[in-house]
Amino acid sequence: MFFSTFTIHLATLAVFTSWTGISAQATQRTCNNSPDLCDRPFDSIVHLGTHNSPFVRDASTGWSSFGNQLYNTTVQLDAGVRLLSAQVHARLMPDGTREFHLCHTICELSDAGRLSDWLYTIRIWLDQHPDDVVTIVLVNSDQATAADLAGEYTLSGASACSYIPPSPEAPDQWPTLNTLIDAGTRMLTFIAYLPQDDSRAQAPYLMDEFAHVFENPYDTSTPTNFTCTPDRPGDIQGNVSAAIASKKLFLQNHFLYWNQLGGIQVPDIRHIGSTNAPEGPGGLGARLISCMEVYGASATFVLVDFFNVGPAVSTVDMFNGVAAPVGRLDVTTKMPPQVTDQLDPALDPSVDPSLDPSSDPRLGMIVRQSNGAGSSAVRCVCFGFVVPILVALLQGSGADRTWFLLPFPVAALAWLGGWV
Ligand SMILES: *[C@@H]1O[C@H](CO)[C@@H](O)[C@H](O)[C@H]1NC(C)=O
Ligand SMILES: *[C@@H]1O[C@H](CO)[C@@H](O)[C@H](O)[C@H]1NC(C)=O
Ligand SMILES: *[C@@H]1O[C@H](CO)[C@@H](O)[C@H](O)[C@H]1NC(C)=O
Repeated sequence: MFFSTFTIHLATLAVFTSWTGISAQATQRTCNNSPDLCDRPFDSIVHLGTHNSPFVRDASTGWSSFGNQLYNTTVQLDAGVRLLSAQVHARLMPDGTREFHLCHTICELSDAGRLSDWLYTIRIWLDQHPDDVVTIVLVNSDQATAADLAGEYTLSGASACSYIPPSPEAPDQWPTLNTLIDAGTRMLTFIAYLPQDDSRAQAPYLMDEFAHVFENPYDTSTPTNFTCTPDRPGDIQGNVSAAIASKKLFLQNHFLYWNQLGGIQVPDIRHIGSTNAPEGPGGLGARLISCMEVYGASATFVLVDFFNVGPAVSTVDMFNGVAAPVGRLDVTTKMPPQVTDQLDPALDPSVDPSLDPSSDPRLGMIVRQSNGAGSSAVRCVCFGFVVPILVALLQGSGADRTWFLLPFPVAALAWLGGWV
């Protein structure tokens, strides 16, 4: 009895000291930007995640409409992001070898480089930040085997600092950040999905995402349509009590797509100010609270686009009870003019939460004013469909599948960019 009262007082004190900015003398270590997080189990912390971390919208990509973040992975980590997500694709190299690259849907259009290079930058960052724990979520688009992925992890040195779970199933308890740091296992990797083959034994640190994690829907395009309902894995879809009973960690998807013609989706920068806001309808803070009420606990992971806007990290700090984060890089919370200039000023992304993308007459992000003849619809049909079909037919049926499909997105992109 005495013990539990004492513990409660300690907890109260910890909250008090953290909110007044007085750091506890006993703890020197600063885990994930706060001494208060060191003794917390991994799953009792909200880890801020960048959706499609390697896909950057900046000068290096010509301010690509597909970019999900304004800063690269290293800056994301410096600024407080502790979960990085990416898509892995198999890319056939000119010399006939197959490499695993971080691509946005199709490697020929958007290739952010080799998986091992990206992992290497994260591994170097971890070396330089010995008290930080980082989670990686990889969407395994081409069913790379554990052996394939292990090759990339070994090459980058990331396997040596990776956490190995005690069993392939969701555990009852997760280690604290202190335990992970002391063990030198500061990278936790979840793969969606990991093929069930024998090579898994070679890389036990590659955790099958949906054996440990469940997610709400990721394909949302209206601010009012965010939901907390379980979506994946399929066996708990729509069933909150089954999700809770599964002991899996909740990954809350909190980003919006902007649907373009031809089924193309780009991150919705128009609503980003309100999407990442600490409060307000459809805002990050309000959505974290809604889902906390559904599951009786905060999400363990939350994925956002343009993480610096909001700023999302402040909202996550509030949920973690962190009042005085330590050692973070300050980045702007604004969208640069190169991004917002692509929008009609009347549609300032930071002020208009009520805009309905489906009623937007502009048919997409008009980066430049097009001088081309004909209406948008005619240009779209012609360059998005007719021309690619002709090109595809001319290439013949023996052509490699990817090249066969390439003209579609190229033409659509050209059209969106106003080049045609
Ligand atoms: C990330 O961006 C920063 C700031 O622009 C730059 O200094 C750094 O070299 C970049 N890192 C990588 C791995 O490209
Ligand atoms: C929003 O959700 C509702 C109900 O699930 C659905 O009927 C509607 O089509 C969705 N709106 C959009 C734009 O996706
Ligand atoms: C939801 O899952 C629980 C088990 O966790 C089960 O008892 C219940 O029948 C499920 N509900 C539905 C609608 O499938």
